[in-house]
Amino acid sequence: MKIAVAKGDGIGPEIMNAVIRVFNAAEVPLEYEYVDMGKWVFDKGFNNGMTDAAKQTIEELGILFKGPMETPKGKGVKSINVTARKTWNTYANKRVFQTLHGVDTVFSKAGIPIDITIVRENIEDTYGGIEHMLTHDVALSRRFITRPGSMQVIRYAFEMAKQKNARRITCGHKANIMKLTDGLFLECFYEVAKEYPELKADDVIVDDLCMKLVVQPNNFDVVVLTNLQGDIVSDLCAGLVGGLGFAPSANIGDHICIFEAVHGTAPDIAGKNIANPTALLLSGIAMLRHVGLLEKAAHIENALLYTLEQGVHTGDFGDKSVPPANTTAFADTIIANIGKKPQLNAKPELADVASTCTVLHPDKNTMLESKETSQEKIVGVDLFIESSELPEVIAKKSQRHAGVKFKIVNVSNRGTQVWPTGSVFTDLVNQYNVRFESIDGHSLNQQDVIGLYVSMSGDFKICSLELLNEWDGKKAYSLAQGQ
Ligand code: NAI
Repeated sequence: MKIAVAKGDGIGPEIMNAVIRVFNAAEVPLEYEYVDMGKWVFDKGFNNGMTDAAKQTIEELGILFKGPMETPKGKGVKSINVTARKTWNTYANKRVFQTLHGVDTVFSKAGIPIDITIVRENIEDTYGGIEHMLTHDVALSRRFITRPGSMQVIRYAFEMAKQKNARRITCGHKANIMKLTDGLFLECFYEVAKEYPELKADDVIVDDLCMKLVVQPNNFDVVVLTNLQGDIVSDLCAGLVGGLGFAPSANIGDHICIFEAVHGTAPDIAGKNIANPTALLLSGIAMLRHVGLLEKAAHIENALLYTLEQGVHTGDFGDKSVPPANTTAFADTIIANIGKKPQLNAKPELADVASTCTVLHPDKNTMLESKETSQEKIVGVDLFIESSELPEVIAKKSQRHAGVKFKIVNVSNRGTQVWPTGSVFTDLVNQYNVRFESIDGHSLNQQDVIGLYVSMSGDFKICSLELLNEWDGKKAYSLAQGQ
């Protein structure tokens, strides 16, 4: 089997070389095709950080083993790491955090074992990177949470939890505040949970989750979250097991998968041959399991665990009284330990299985659409306007444009209602939302909304608009704070 390998930037080449040396010593039956991706490819003028040949190779081979990559700052280009995950629809980011003997943490010292798998949604949320300046003072980020996208990642999390005989699967969310976006994710979680009655499924609000993970990490097993919350919570979990040097990740899609460490290019230590290759090695071990090379994966993992038990360490962890090994020496020790088993938590050397990776080559994009149907009606519109005037003045001016079809329901500023009721203690910024609804709940059409837009634009600069929909009589929009 052939896989694509991108060494990456900063410490990437050093740690990737170390890992491939370990793979070769363990006689891993993989061939590697090195592809051009990373900062130096951006610098050559490729705006997505990879050459066309690299893209083609990865799409043909279906597996990318990737070193960390730097996103050039201030050049208006998007992160290559995020672009790769999104372009190839690797919708689930799986990160396993386990106690490693030889890596001291407050929990290992207290004898509290940790084995937490975070599944982070990998495509949507604020990572769409859809941002606009509405006024010079106001930036807006659009946060997309979709039913099909949520279902894909949640289904993956449940299936993985079932295979690993998980004790519990938890949804982390903020649905108490973001009732529609996180509410949708949570709704999907419990919808899928019904198909897995054997698994204990529950949910925890993300701030409470962070506290509980720090206080009692051994209470958690599999946790699934939206993209940004998952990003933050997984770094928290990395801290529980010894830091970013021990945090592997797998980006799972239906056709293409990317295996990489959670950490970045570590520019502060790049080129010094002192980086810790463990996180990348653990990502590589996960990749071997993914392609069915279970025995090789266990061989290498046992050699790594044995090495850590011996107290061999790089400079970022371990007993400070024992001189650290550099990256090369650390990999050499793992190589010398191939065939040895750690005293604790040795991995079973299961027989290899046939790879379940299917690299299909779709000839068109797949439309993910749920079968939900409902009676849909436009009942109003939110017009986001730029203005430094006071709420009463805005309401009075807007009233003139309401005509016979619309009435102003409220005016809000940063999501807080400031008209018809509000408080003088609410500080304002120069961007308001004027909410119009139809008189007597009559159905509106888009032409009505455009007519209102044109009329309002005589008085205001309109930054953005959102239709207010009702589905089967249920509001498909949130209320302003205080409405
Ligand atoms: P970073 O993860 O590169 O470094 C944070 C700290 O951890 C630094 O002190 C670094 O020396 C240390 N560190 C990280 N990996 C280590 C290792 N293997 N061994 C020993 N120490 C290690 O995060 P930072 O500095 O915020 O980002 C640097 C660059 O990496 C940025 O350009 C960022 O965009 C990129 N990045 C790339 C990622 C990827 O390719 N998936 C992920 C995160 C950041």
